[in-house]
Amino acid sequence: MMEIKGIILAGGTGSRLHPLTATVNKQLLPVYDKPAIYYPLTTLMLAGIREIMIVSTPADLTAMKTLLKDGRHFGLSLHYQTQDRPRGLPDGLIIAEKFIGGNPAAMVLGDNFFYGQGFSALLAKSAGNAETCHVFLYSVKDPSRYGIAKFDADGRMIDMIEKPEKFVSPWAITGLYFFPADAAQRAKKLKPSKRGELEITDLIRLYMGEGAVDAHKLGRGNVWFDVGTPDSLLMASNFVEVIQNRQNILIASPEEIAWRMKFIGDNDYRNLIGAMPICAYRNSLEATLTA
Ligand code: DAU
Repeated sequence: MMEIKGIILAGGTGSRLHPLTATVNKQLLPVYDKPAIYYPLTTLMLAGIREIMIVSTPADLTAMKTLLKDGRHFGLSLHYQTQDRPRGLPDGLIIAEKFIGGNPAAMVLGDNFFYGQGFSALLAKSAGNAETCHVFLYSVKDPSRYGIAKFDADGRMIDMIEKPEKFVSPWAITGLYFFPADAAQRAKKLKPSKRGELEITDLIRLYMGEGAVDAHKLGRGNVWFDVGTPDSLLMASNFVEVIQNRQNILIASPEEIAWRMKFIGDNDYRNLIGAMPICAYRNSLEATLTA
């Protein structure tokens, strides 16, 4: 099986979060006790992906590198590349073309947060079938904010509409996409839409025309947020706080997930924890050693 490369698209202007984003990149804002980017990063890790490229603005990459370094301490190999302006989501694949190097690729948006029982198993299953494009759908109250799936009478996804003005369905296409090996080449052939960006829905549509899209509906026991607005940022923080403190667990800790996925060994994990300042996050990691 070919190794899947990961991409985290972590640029953009974060305009909907102004003035929070006037000095801090959106994906570095806190979602309760961690930077937002920890959540998509660990989503890729749970899919078994260890080679990951982070794409962000020239101004923000330095802070991302300071935070995540070369990834070796998480058993990862992290790469960084700049995007000088937001040209659209498929541009992430074009920027990462050399890094992808003819492998399948999973791309996740830096402001997306997934959680739920069975989600890791779904990730592993999707990663195991790299001939197909995988998308993940989530039912939302405000479909006009997202790319939305359209279905036929038999419930098959037949099209996608970016930010529909009229109701199409409640099923948003979340910001996690698994693509076969030719995605960057296909992305290069796309034309910008009316809003002047390359659209991810146009890329997925190409695979759909070949019957090569698996659309996975995330059911009631799952949570998905994009933390792109003040309300959703707070909602995600509140969610993480409730689950973590009630169950005494950590959501989306790259240290813990690296250890559980066996990307790092017991000693590496203990050393990582030992090097941290005394804080609630460290206490929670220590608790995993005796749980
Ligand atoms: O969150 C899911 C939604 O994400 C999907 O339902 C939509 O189909 C998809 O188009 C996208 O919609 P958004 O309006 O949320 O996209 P936005 O432009 O806000 O970008 C999402 C993230 O990707 C954000 O963290 C910034 C980053 N980004 C975006 C673009 C367009 C980049 O790093 N570079 C870019 O060129």
